[in-house]
Amino acid sequence: MYYQKLDDFPKNFLWGAASAAYQIEGAYNEDGKGPSIWDTYAHTEGNTYKGTNGDVAIDHYHHLEEDVGLMAKMGLKAYRFSVAWSRVIPDGEGEVNQAGLDFYIRLVKLLKENQIEPVLTLYHWDLPQALQDKYLGWESRKTVAAFAKYCRVLFETFKDDVKYWVTFNEQNVFTGLGYRWGNHPPKVTDIKRMYAANHIVNLANATAINLFHEMVPKGLIGPSFGYGPVYPLTGDPNDVLASVNADDFNNNWWLDVYCRGEYPYFMMKRLQAMGIAPEVTAADQKLLKSAKPDFLGINYYHGGTVQTNRLQKKVAADDKKDFSSTDPYLMQPKEDQAQSPEIPMFNSVSSPYLEKTEWGWEIDPIGFRVALRQVYEKYRLPIFVTENGLGAADQLVDGQVNDDYRIKYLADHVLTMKEAITDGVEMIGYCAWSFSDLLSWLNGYRKRYGFVYVDRDDDGPKELKRIPKASYYWYQKLIADNGADV
Ligand code: NOJ
Repeated sequence: MYYQKLDDFPKNFLWGAASAAYQIEGAYNEDGKGPSIWDTYAHTEGNTYKGTNGDVAIDHYHHLEEDVGLMAKMGLKAYRFSVAWSRVIPDGEGEVNQAGLDFYIRLVKLLKENQIEPVLTLYHWDLPQALQDKYLGWESRKTVAAFAKYCRVLFETFKDDVKYWVTFNEQNVFTGLGYRWGNHPPKVTDIKRMYAANHIVNLANATAINLFHEMVPKGLIGPSFGYGPVYPLTGDPNDVLASVNADDFNNNWWLDVYCRGEYPYFMMKRLQAMGIAPEVTAADQKLLKSAKPDFLGINYYHGGTVQTNRLQKKVAADDKKDFSSTDPYLMQPKEDQAQSPEIPMFNSVSSPYLEKTEWGWEIDPIGFRVALRQVYEKYRLPIFVTENGLGAADQLVDGQVNDDYRIKYLADHVLTMKEAITDGVEMIGYCAWSFSDLLSWLNGYRKRYGFVYVDRDDDGPKELKRIPKASYYWYQKLIADNGADV
């Protein structure tokens, strides 16, 4: 029995599930699609576990009707997917490839016919390779213009049928891993370039939001941010100070720009002193200020614990150097980056209080409530949880997958979300990650997140049969009851 009566989920709460183009579609070179930086990266030896890639993925491109059929049967109210930019505009900025666009037109139509609200992500990491080659991708302002052109095509095409739009998925993760830690494309390890590229993405985000408000006045748009609350390891004021610093580095640096149009002051000052701050012109500042998201997308997996480094305490390194331990939400995923500006400010450590998943990610449902509360208190925008889920090496036994551990993980998080709603957080919906099993960027196909098992492994596709897991039926019931039993 819970000590407090919880509010019901809102009647129109969007219970959903999510995916991303590169992780599910396959058909990487079909119907005129151009290559993306992920095609190039995953085709380069040594970059991913066993050379796994998205060439076929779960072949959603050729299983569209079947996959949407499973969503409908589950009673899904929303489905979040991303559009592969290079499917729609193969070279990123030139002619539109109608065959590529048609795929998403069919998808949206099927979703609508089944009363599933489409949630369209414009950018989930698969930049057209041509823009990387021509302009150095997000390191050039020319890519902002290309992005605006691509957005215009999608806004025009879907303005009457898609209400919810996400600009960038986890900008903090793809800029960090791509430009700083170098284990995502474009494999750069230069912190100054990371801050510069990140600023360009901010300009693209603001440009897209402003364009959207002109072209799709009935729709709602916002970024999806990978948020994690920061905990001090102890009550030692030195550790508390470290947590304030870490919050600036990991959260405010992005969220303040999205929601207030300004970089956080203390951190900007520090980066400037170190000579690694992005260059922000008066025109940039004006643009950032002018763009207001309608909601904030939050991807929640876990937060982080930090301790001070001022007393030269020992750094507990969490990184295990193989693909399987790559955790994009760790604040300092590698200890060998001596030039980290955080080093005098905080050290990431493991929480002594939290259990971990098979992949070493902390499990922290209470942190979910903390996250929702913190973000809502600070920015007062409605929140759409655009990802939350558990990666595990699920086993198919006698044709079934009994993923009780995933049900527990999701139920615990749905409960704390209900508590946050009772606290007063205004929420649009919740998309579990992920609808079906899919490619885990660096970890191949053994790390699974889906409600639907897909019969394939790292050595190649088998029959790609879709098999609903136990969690599929659990979520189906939860949706039907609108979370009443949680
Ligand atoms: C967040 C990313 O958006 C998604 O693409 C990824 O697969 C999940 N995290 C799990 O790592």
